[in-house]
Amino acid sequence: MTAFVDIDGVTLTYRGASGDVTALRGTSLAVGRGEFTAVVGPSGCGKSTLMRLVTGLVRPTEGRVSLDGAAVDGPVKIAGMAFQNPNLLPWRTVTDNVLLPLEIVEPYRRRFRAEKKQYKERAEALLATVGLAGFGDRFPWELSGGMQQRASLCRALIHEPELLMLDEPFAALDAFTREELWCVLRDLWERIGFTVVLVTHDLREAAFLADTIHVMSARPGRIVTTRQVELPRPRDLEVCFEPAFVDLIHELRGRIAEMRAA
Ligand SMILES: Nc1ncnc2c1ncn2[C@@H]1O[C@H](COP(=O)(O)OP(=O)(O)O)[C@@H](O)[C@H]1O
Ligand SMILES: [Mg+2]
Repeated sequence: MTAFVDIDGVTLTYRGASGDVTALRGTSLAVGRGEFTAVVGPSGCGKSTLMRLVTGLVRPTEGRVSLDGAAVDGPVKIAGMAFQNPNLLPWRTVTDNVLLPLEIVEPYRRRFRAEKKQYKERAEALLATVGLAGFGDRFPWELSGGMQQRASLCRALIHEPELLMLDEPFAALDAFTREELWCVLRDLWERIGFTVVLVTHDLREAAFLADTIHVMSARPGRIVTTRQVELPRPRDLEVCFEPAFVDLIHELRGRIAEMRAA
């Protein structure tokens, strides 16, 4: 079976006036269709670079990246993205922020004027599934950080992408809000069934959400450990206190410590 996301022997060197930086070297990673994958690693190890490669924003220096069997050679349309900063446009309402990808991505773009009413209903329905019913007409600055991040997830999903790429989306939130958002993401994934690549430095977040965790080395980053998460689904936050969960976190921490000492 071919992987849905296939990163094969990728090296990425950023060329700059002050010298070259090799962010990734010989990195390989495969993600199955519908799989929830987490990538964890220290700051600067190339996690965001990995996201840019998969979404076609940068090209590998060596190796290849393919999505659903096709080589990635430019920005991809089948992915939705969300980042640490929700990046909502302050002059647009929440609903109009969520609608943004439909104004850009075909085939929605050409239908946008004619279908605006239906699209708006769809955005509002999606907002309701993440607990933002009735907030569509508000502006981003009227919402808490956690609510803005919920809206940002809706914007990433409004065009029904097959792949959701998340770059430390909950890193700026307080611990309680972060755990609420884990559950929001879990529910969206279980309901819609897209493929996820979640970049995080939070091992608990990775273990709670993912089917598979890939641990990256320090720069130049490569995958040093891949671990299946066997915890049964559906998972709720109580699982974080179970021995199997705690053991998994210990094991991953141990691998990261060994790697740092090496
Ligand atoms: N556009 C760029 N030009 C030059 N160097 C970059 C660029 N983007 C990232 N880097 C460098 O590449 C390395 C990996 O960065 P990044 O992928 O952002 O790591 P992470 O997301 O894991 O923190 C870092 O050393 C960073 O400084
Ligand atoms: Mg990053």
